[in-house]
Amino acid sequence: MNDRNRVIRITTAIAGAVAVVVTLLMPLGYFLISYRHMTGSLETEAEINSRIISELVNANPDMWRYEQVRLEELLARRPSGGAQETRRLLDLDGKTVAESVTPLTPPLLRETRDLKAAGVTVGRIEISRSLFPLLAGTGAAALLGLGIGLTVFVTLRVLPLRAVFRAEEELCRLNEELELKVEERTRQLAEAQDELVQREKLALLGMIAAGMGNELRNPLGVMSNAVYFLQSVQPDATETVKEYLEIIREEIDNSQRIISDLLDYYRITTPRTAVVPVDALIGESLARCSIPENIRLRTETAEMPFAVRVDSIQMGQVLRNLVTNAVQAMPDGGSLRIRARKVQGTRNEERGNKDLNLEPRTSNLEPCADFVEISVKDTGEGIAPENMTKLFQPLFTTKSRGIGLGLAISRKLIEANGGRIEVKSCLGDGTTFTVTLPVGG
Ligand SMILES: Nc1ncnc2c1ncn2[C@@H]1O[C@H](COP(=O)(O)OP(=O)(O)O)[C@@H](O)[C@H]1O
Ligand SMILES: [Mg+2]
Repeated sequence: MNDRNRVIRITTAIAGAVAVVVTLLMPLGYFLISYRHMTGSLETEAEINSRIISELVNANPDMWRYEQVRLEELLARRPSGGAQETRRLLDLDGKTVAESVTPLTPPLLRETRDLKAAGVTVGRIEISRSLFPLLAGTGAAALLGLGIGLTVFVTLRVLPLRAVFRAEEELCRLNEELELKVEERTRQLAEAQDELVQREKLALLGMIAAGMGNELRNPLGVMSNAVYFLQSVQPDATETVKEYLEIIREEIDNSQRIISDLLDYYRITTPRTAVVPVDALIGESLARCSIPENIRLRTETAEMPFAVRVDSIQMGQVLRNLVTNAVQAMPDGGSLRIRARKVQGTRNEERGNKDLNLEPRTSNLEPCADFVEISVKDTGEGIAPENMTKLFQPLFTTKSRGIGLGLAISRKLIEANGGRIEVKSCLGDGTTFTVTLPVGG
């Protein structure tokens, strides 16, 4: 801000000085030039007139004073320029001998020459002109100078300042842009670092999962059998015992699910694709999900049955993950709609999905090849906008008992089967996951 004030002060001072010089130069120049011109012409005039009169004086050295008519006639002759003048002939005593008077506005400029007869001064001629026109012209020049001075001041002050301020604004803008870029780069770096940490975490987790998963599967299996055995041999057990046995069974199931999720994530096998009817795929997946009574389930498939070319076990797991998530998003009930339909494939670029991170096979869909879209729509809590980009990251979960591998596994499986997954959600209104798979048959 200080720099800005200094620039304004310096520019104003320079512009002011130049403007003052211009303002003063105009009338001063006009006055000096015109004055010199006026005195020059007055001197010439006086010289010529003194010579003319001197001739008459020389012709009649004693009586010239009495030739008044002739003298006045000579004095009345005007130069061709026509400047207003008063001309007067005076004798040695200063008495007027003859004159040609024109009314002149003071102040006056006067020029005097001696009249000589045989080298002796016998009188003098005096010529006066008014300085008024010169002063009036100088006044006009001063006004003009003031106008030009003001223009110069405004131009010199405003234009450079405007340029300086514009440059300053441009600099600020560039600075802001730079800051934004730095921020963006920093964010990208932080993201890249996060991803790296995440990968390392996953790699470590993978090793632990692979090692421990298998080890834990066996004891969990044994425990599960034991509970099943206890439940079947104790039909008359107290309600509390039954309840606790059920809790143990559920927790063993949960642990087994977590372990198989972990193992699945790290060991996704190459899909064994086959042509699978879509309604059968959906039906079998739903049969293996437990959907509470407060959730209204609706499935919509086309009347003409159609099929997909996928690994049915892997796709069944995907659908179960999506349905489980939908059920978990509606703890107080709601409605769940599963819809399958055929869609015409177009290039992703045409669908405006340039940013999707898709398998090469699906990102270059042949125009007009058919695909099958299976959507799982719930009326649950929805997903916060800031979480939308994290959903498919391994270990991302918002649930107290979730492990955040369901969607990550699902995406891996879908992409391995030549499809893709998209999500749309509105916080508080519900979520729709759409899986697009290659058509079969
Ligand atoms: N249908 C859904 N409605 C609302 N949130 C969902 C839905 N599906 C997934 N999510 C969000 O995505 C997160 C990750 O899901 P997922 O990978 O299946 O892991 P988990 O179910 O173990 O949390 C969930 O914790 C939840 O926040
Ligand atoms: Mg889940």
